[in-house]
Amino acid sequence: MQVILTVTMNAALDVTYELDSVNWKSVNRVRTVRNCAGGKGINVARLLKALGRRVMVSGLAGGATGAALRAELSKDGIADALVPIAGESRRTLAIVTTDEATLLNEPGPTVSAREWRHFYDHFTTLVEDADAVVLSGSLPPGVPLDAYAVLGKAARRLGAPVVLDTSGRALTEGLIAHPVVVKPNKEELVSATGFEETLAATAALRRSGAENVVASLGDQGLLADTTEGCWRAVPPRRLVGNATGAGDGVVAALVAGLVDESPWPRRLVEATALSAASVIEPKAGSADLDVYRQFREEVTLESCSR
Ligand SMILES: Nc1ncnc2c1ncn2[C@@H]1O[C@H](COP(=O)(O)OP(=O)(O)OP(=O)(O)O)[C@@H](O)[C@H]1O
Ligand SMILES: [Mg+2]
Repeated sequence: MQVILTVTMNAALDVTYELDSVNWKSVNRVRTVRNCAGGKGINVARLLKALGRRVMVSGLAGGATGAALRAELSKDGIADALVPIAGESRRTLAIVTTDEATLLNEPGPTVSAREWRHFYDHFTTLVEDADAVVLSGSLPPGVPLDAYAVLGKAARRLGAPVVLDTSGRALTEGLIAHPVVVKPNKEELVSATGFEETLAATAALRRSGAENVVASLGDQGLLADTTEGCWRAVPPRRLVGNATGAGDGVVAALVAGLVDESPWPRRLVEATALSAASVIEPKAGSADLDVYRQFREEVTLESCSR
């Protein structure tokens, strides 16, 4: 079976505290504590695993938090080739009550130039066994802003197609490596190109190096601007849930479609269904597979004119 390699340069241990309510000025009793390995590439890998795909997770992990997140990956049966660093991996803390959620995200460790070079060497060996590579999420301090361009070029040279999902300079620099698929959301599109109009923005990203662009537009679904045509995919209804990490569902389905070489319309239906199914699930990186199967039959797909 084909292997999909996902890279998470800023991996995290996602800690969730569940309580009935919080009194911010007093002592609170936490009802349940849940730990889970997080970061976009890891979430993509978890979704791919749920679809029965073979995955390999890489990126950076350090300290006791790094060890804890690796232990969580192993519990989930996900093969990890995370590279050790001296700094302590970050934690994200979600404080969830019956009616609200508060997120506290640690900044993450600073990565040394030596650690980055070591990661690069490690990455090139991993890519040799990979059929596709997902580069997603933010870059921690110390990792060069053109990291995704450097990794993307190496992957291209070694014959592995790249899916890129990031924002800001990491995105604009990453385009230099000509990723096969780029998956910005609305905000990332506008800030990378200056164009408010989605098709004008996707065209600009393609001129800057993206081979195909799949823009995710929240509950409006997807707009794909590809070498084979342009389509809109719309979910059958708006779902209420946790939309954080819905983009990871899009990326997981797109990379699966890429290795299968399935036609674009099929990939887009899959991506819309899987991302909607991940909105339903409270935890990022997991999806309600019944909703996924049902939505695959109900997503509307239409061609758009450029
Ligand atoms: N409320 C919703 N109901 C149904 N589908 C949704 C909803 N919100 C998002 N989706 C699906 O998930 C996809 C990705 O969502 P969105 O554009 O918000 O991604 P994102 O901003 O990259 O998310 P993140 O970076 O947090 O993973 C959408 O294109 C759509 O198909
Ligand atoms: Mg996103």
